[in-house]
Amino acid sequence: MTDKGQPFTPAKLAGLTLKNRVIRAGCFEGMCQGGQVTDELVEHHRRLAAGGVAMTTVAYCSVSADGRAFDHELWMREAIVPGLRKLTDAVHREGSLASIQLGHAGFFTNKGIIGKRPLGASAKWCLFMRSYCREMTREDIDEKVHDFVSAAVLARDSGFDAIEIHAGHGYLLSQFLSPWTNRRKDAFGGSIENRLRFPVKVIENTRDILGPDFPILVKMNQIDGMKNGISIHESQIIGRAFEFAGASALIPSSGFTSKIPFLMLRGDLPIREMSRNQESSLDRLGLKIFGRLMVPEHAYRPLFQLDGARKILEAVDIPVIYIGGVESLAAIRQVLDDGFSFVQVGRATIQDPEFVTKLEAGLIERSPCDHCNRCVAAMDAGGVYCVSNNEGFLGQGAGS
Ligand SMILES: Cc1cc2nc3c(=O)[nH]c(=O)nc-3n(C[C@H](O)[C@H](O)[C@H](O)COP(=O)(O)O)c2cc1C
Repeated sequence: MTDKGQPFTPAKLAGLTLKNRVIRAGCFEGMCQGGQVTDELVEHHRRLAAGGVAMTTVAYCSVSADGRAFDHELWMREAIVPGLRKLTDAVHREGSLASIQLGHAGFFTNKGIIGKRPLGASAKWCLFMRSYCREMTREDIDEKVHDFVSAAVLARDSGFDAIEIHAGHGYLLSQFLSPWTNRRKDAFGGSIENRLRFPVKVIENTRDILGPDFPILVKMNQIDGMKNGISIHESQIIGRAFEFAGASALIPSSGFTSKIPFLMLRGDLPIREMSRNQESSLDRLGLKIFGRLMVPEHAYRPLFQLDGARKILEAVDIPVIYIGGVESLAAIRQVLDDGFSFVQVGRATIQDPEFVTKLEAGLIERSPCDHCNRCVAAMDAGGVYCVSNNEGFLGQGAGS
């Protein structure tokens, strides 16, 4: 007997009704060479939509050309609106909704790709990109607020049903929130109120332009995870500030891409596969030898963000979307029982885009994903797919 309990019932998110409680998490696809929307990207999200998620999230899309860390990622501009429209149409035809994650990589943008010195909250060396960013001026801050707003409008015009502002994982807004990256002495640094000023402005201005009903999800950190990062106490203040600024829902995660990238994932470190993706032989060798020292490993457990996410849930009155280690029907039930409104699922849907349909039909109880994280290396080697699953999942069939 199929159990059609709470996970598969519709629920509201701002002005939107989602057909069930499962949203595909933003997982960088690595399918957008030259920043273009490709057939592979469209097919990837069509297959996720067909596989039963209520809403799929196109992963990290930079709000401007100078927010890119890689050449194979999207950056928002008029020229890609027709391609994005093709993607949202394909998702809608499968009976699902589409969201897009908007962000800026700040101090870990790639100097070689953006053609200028990276921007950051404070001047800082980035080991990850081996570059030194410059502290953003007041004018830079105003310009980036404007870029977020313009990108949100283009996303809506492309047919997206929701946007997800990236204020976590050590991206630019998170770099302003974190004392590890923000050592400013002006109105944008120091106290948590000051560190919040720029991210809050982004959310407020985006809300103003999109109107009261358009869903604005905000992904944030409940902890950064390193010494001098934000604490749970501060993230509760951040969650409340985002709520008052106009966020429709929060997605509490953790980790800092340029420092502790696997805290948000947990599980194995695919060092060998990641080292193969390095451009120079010196980098390949360096990562192979020093990888385990440079990239800390964190043990995986189901629902690994639950304790911190509950603290955010306690602090706010808007929906909180649980993310991190959702791999079974029992886990989805547990977090919904806890009071979370939806779940976001990453690796289980990379392993099998039909994860939700199969759960609902009672064909599986849990995902066979073993957190080898080789999908993370795959996203920089042609496009994300499950390396363990022989059938793979790379948007196959695109264009055929
Ligand atoms: C291949 C891959 C790519 C990811 N890319 C992003 C990204 O672009 N933006 C983001 O916020 N999180 C990204 N994440 C993190 C996921 O959104 C999610 O937080 C994490 O995978 C934990 O959820 P899970 O246990 O359901 O996989 C990525 C994860 C994976 C596995």
